[in-house]
Amino acid sequence: MATDAVHPAPELPGFPDGFLWGVSTSAHQIEGAVEEREPSVWDVFSAEPGRIKDGSTAAVACDHVHRHREDVALLAGLGVDAYRFSISWPRVRSAGGLDFYDRLVDELCAAGVRPVPTLFHWDLPTALHDKGGWLERDTAARFADHVATVADRLGDRVHKWITLNEPAEHTLFGHALGAHAPGERLMFDALPAAHHQLLAHGLAVRALRAAGAADIGIANSHGPTWPASPEQPDLDAAAFYDLLLNRLFAEPVLLGAYPDGTGDLMPGDVAADLKVISEPLDWYGVNYYAPTKVGAPKGTEIEFGGLTLPADLPFSVQDVEDVPVTDFGWPVVPEGLTELLTGFRDRYGDRLPPIVITENGCSYEGLDDQDRIAYLDGHIRALHRAVRAGVDVRGYFVWSLLDNWEWAEGYARRFGLVHVDYATGKRTPKSSYRWFRDRLLAQRARA
Ligand code: NOJ
Repeated sequence: MATDAVHPAPELPGFPDGFLWGVSTSAHQIEGAVEEREPSVWDVFSAEPGRIKDGSTAAVACDHVHRHREDVALLAGLGVDAYRFSISWPRVRSAGGLDFYDRLVDELCAAGVRPVPTLFHWDLPTALHDKGGWLERDTAARFADHVATVADRLGDRVHKWITLNEPAEHTLFGHALGAHAPGERLMFDALPAAHHQLLAHGLAVRALRAAGAADIGIANSHGPTWPASPEQPDLDAAAFYDLLLNRLFAEPVLLGAYPDGTGDLMPGDVAADLKVISEPLDWYGVNYYAPTKVGAPKGTEIEFGGLTLPADLPFSVQDVEDVPVTDFGWPVVPEGLTELLTGFRDRYGDRLPPIVITENGCSYEGLDDQDRIAYLDGHIRALHRAVRAGVDVRGYFVWSLLDNWEWAEGYARRFGLVHVDYATGKRTPKSSYRWFRDRLLAQRARA
C-alpha cells in the first residue's frame, strides 16, 4: 500500500485495553439546514461582510442534517469506537430539533459507534445573546436547563458527555478579539464570558449527574507555550500566555481555584461559583494542535490568529521555526503532545482525571493526503510516549471526520479524513481515512 511506503512501521503502537478511538465534528461546522432551526450568533456574524475570509456562511456546510445516514455509514466503515459531535442549542429549541439528535444517536448505536455529544460548541442561540449572552450570568442557568432536556431524551444511549468545547477560544476570539462570533472586542472585559461559561460547565455537570449520567468531561484546548528566548520579558509573556491558554480554564475545573489572582477579576460570588465549577469529572478532554512560541510584544501591532492586533496585548505570538507547517500554517510538532501531557500530569498530579484527546488533526488539501497521515501517525506515537511515561490517557479523537466550515476561515481549510465537495455534497474518503481504518483494524486484531 502506498501509505506503508511513506511510513514503514505498518502498525501503531498498542494502547491500553478499552482505549477509545474516534473522530470529531461540530454542529455549526457540518449540519447546514439553518432554516430548520433558530439562528445562532454564528449565523448573524457570518452574514456580516468581511467577517469570514471567503465570505461564506455555514448555511449548507456538509448538509449533514440531510445526509446523516451517509455520515454514519462512513463512521461505521472507518471502524471507530466513538463519534464526537455537538448538539446545536438553537436546533434543540426548534421544533423537531431534538428528534434529529435522537435519530442520529439511534443510528450510531445501531452501527456500533458510541455517541459522544458536546453540549456547547460556540453556537449560542441569538435569543440568548440578545439577553446578554455569556456576559450575563443567567445564560449559565439557561444552559443547565437545556442540558437537562437533552440528557433526559438521550441519556440512555450516550457513552460520554462533553459539556463545553474550548471556552478559551470562544472567550478570546469571540469576546476579546472579535475574530469569531459574537464578534465582541472587549479585550480584558471579556473575562465574565469565561467565568459564565465555566459556571455553565459546572451547572451542566450537576444537571447531567441528576439525570444519571456517569461519564462526563470537558474539551479544553491546550498546547505547550515556548518562550521566544530565556530573556525575562519573553519568559513573562510566555507565562502570561500559558496562564490564559493552559491554566485559566483548567484550574477552576481541576483545582477549584483561578490561577494567580485572576479570580479577583471575575464577577459574582466567585468562591461559591468555584465549588460548582469544580464538580468532579470522570475524564478531562484535551484538544491539541500545536505548541505556541510566545515573546514580549513587538512594535505597535502583532499578528495573531489571522488578525492584526494592537500591541496592548502583553505578548506576541511568533513562528515556531524549523518544523513543517500545515496548509493553515500551523507548526507540526508531535512531541508537543507528549510534553503537554507529561507537563499536565506533573502540574496537577492526582487532581488530573484520566485524559481523552478530544481533538487532534490538521488542514491539508488533496485526496491522497500523505501529509495528514504523517501528522496523525506522529501524534499518535507521541501520545503513546505519554502513555508509556505514565499519563492515564483513555481515548483519541481525530478532528475531523469531514472537511467542514472552519469558522472565520470559511471553507478554505480542509481538516477531514473525508473530502466534501461543497457544490454537490459528495463525500470521498481520503487516503488518511483508509490509513486510519487499517490502523484501527490492526489495533483490534492485536487486542
Ligand atoms: C478547534 C475547534 O474546536 C474546532 O471547531 C475547529 O474546527 C478545530 N479546532 C480546528 O481549528
